[in-house]
Amino acid sequence: MDRLGGKVAIITGGVSGIGRATAELFAAEGSRVVIFDRNAGSGEAVVAGIRRAGGEAGFVLGDVTRAADADRAVAIALENYHQVDVLINNAGLSIGHSALEIDEATWDQNFAVVLKGPYHFVRATLPHFRERRRGAIVNIASVNGMLAVGEDAYSAAKAGLINFTKNLAVRFGVDGVRVNAIAPGTIRTPSWQAQLERTPDVFDRLARWYPLGRVGEPEDIARAALFLASDEAAWITGVVLPVDGGLTAGQFGMAEDLQNGR
Ligand code: NAI
Repeated sequence: MDRLGGKVAIITGGVSGIGRATAELFAAEGSRVVIFDRNAGSGEAVVAGIRRAGGEAGFVLGDVTRAADADRAVAIALENYHQVDVLINNAGLSIGHSALEIDEATWDQNFAVVLKGPYHFVRATLPHFRERRRGAIVNIASVNGMLAVGEDAYSAAKAGLINFTKNLAVRFGVDGVRVNAIAPGTIRTPSWQAQLERTPDVFDRLARWYPLGRVGEPEDIARAALFLASDEAAWITGVVLPVDGGLTAGQFGMAEDLQNGR
């Protein structure tokens, strides 16, 4: 119950889905949590829930695409808690599918949230991490950053986030800073709401593609983030951990074709 005892974590996009589950788990494991999100109403509710459960949390309203908001979040965390140990770059959204169908503004919007957002938060936290010679960053990427599964702009930005993770890990390892990424498969979160309204059985349909036979829950990702953020992962940096029910391990469609052809 105390795997993050004494630590302070900033979690972007922390009021919904994966970010919310991560904030709640981190608080339950002893971390003081700064939730950063552009959704104010739900932010206060999530903080109240964590406090009712005996945890410590605060909310900062802001937009990850704005450098000044990232700087402000870190300043508030330092003012309140005097340290930051963990950064979870989780805020994200995916807009559009084919590169030929989306306009330039949509392309830019995907990149601004998915890739520039983490850049702003890394720049805001790293000087403090380097000064203390400790810090853990977990970037929430996606299987879309590893495979072609559609959503072209979002996927390209997530692939960029994966390489950004590796460069940071190699560059700042000497300063005691660890930087890792998680690549989630399909996770049952509010980000699927519009798709669910169009296709109510979408999770059942997608579950068939997963070797473990189900889509993921936000807590599946939160538990992986907990491990990577904690000192249990003290000698792990620069990894991209798929938390995807086996999706990226491969598919047997080709093998079955081969066997059936014999
Ligand atoms: P969600 O939509 O439930 O929550 C995302 C949160 O980020 C929301 O609270 C939203 O207000 C916040 N946010 C979005 N843009 C923001 C901005 N510019 N500034 C500040 N806050 C902002 O989404 P979900 O599904 O929990 O996704 C979390 C992360 O996981 C994202 O990076 C997403 O790309 C990634 N992911 C999600 C998967 C899924 O199937 N749900 C699969 C793979 C990756």
